[in-house]
Amino acid sequence: MNISVAIDGPAGAGKSTIASIVADRFNLMYINTGSMYRAVTLMCMRNNISHIMVADVCNLTNSLDMHFDGDSLIVNGEDISEEIRLPDVSNNVSNYAAIPQVREILVTIQQAMANKYDVIMDGRDIGTVVLKNAPFKFYLTASAEERAKRRFDELNTKGIAVEYNNILNDIIKRDYVDSNREINPLRKAKDAIEIDSSKLSINEVVEIISNHIKKYIKKTTEGEI
Ligand code: DC
Repeated sequence: MNISVAIDGPAGAGKSTIASIVADRFNLMYINTGSMYRAVTLMCMRNNISHIMVADVCNLTNSLDMHFDGDSLIVNGEDISEEIRLPDVSNNVSNYAAIPQVREILVTIQQAMANKYDVIMDGRDIGTVVLKNAPFKFYLTASAEERAKRRFDELNTKGIAVEYNNILNDIIKRDYVDSNREINPLRKAKDAIEIDSSKLSINEVVEIISNHIKKYIKKTTEGEI
């Protein structure tokens, strides 16, 4: 039995924290697709390749050897997990993620991972494009203010000085770009279960998702699916 779990939703809805816990619980490989778009952005920025230099962006994307080691993303042998979270990358990633050819390259890699392993994958287009046939699709939301507060607290804990209002504006801007780009915009898949996490704890969301997975595993082992 091959398990694929798709989690979509806007920036800061808690997808990565929750997906990582669920992955440990069910022994799934956690694939954070936002990190992959961030990796492309970071590598382009390091090489002074702007998002309008599409051919160069694609060449560089094709040259990247990406794999996940637990929650860490290793690119060409380097652990870039911390660096891709810096505000400079966050402010630019939507531009690179909007390039259709980049999406095509990364979606192909993501689908190959899901064919090979039991996965839980989070992003914006997982239920609608990458894992259209996943037996589980979740759409995780929270208000923009709550999401900005969470990201502010997270960066503060890491000692990175940021302004709450800048984070909120960045989230609102990214929501707009992610939801309005022409290719694979952020959308809830018709068959996705929507969970608003504004007033739920991490554990409560983990339990909701885990219960769906447990029910499915029980049904498949009893031969109903
Ligand atoms: O989840 P995140 O904030 O780390 O995502 C970074 C950016 O990548 C964000 O602007 C949306 C984009 N993204 C995307 O377009 N498709 C995905 N499957 C995942 C992320």
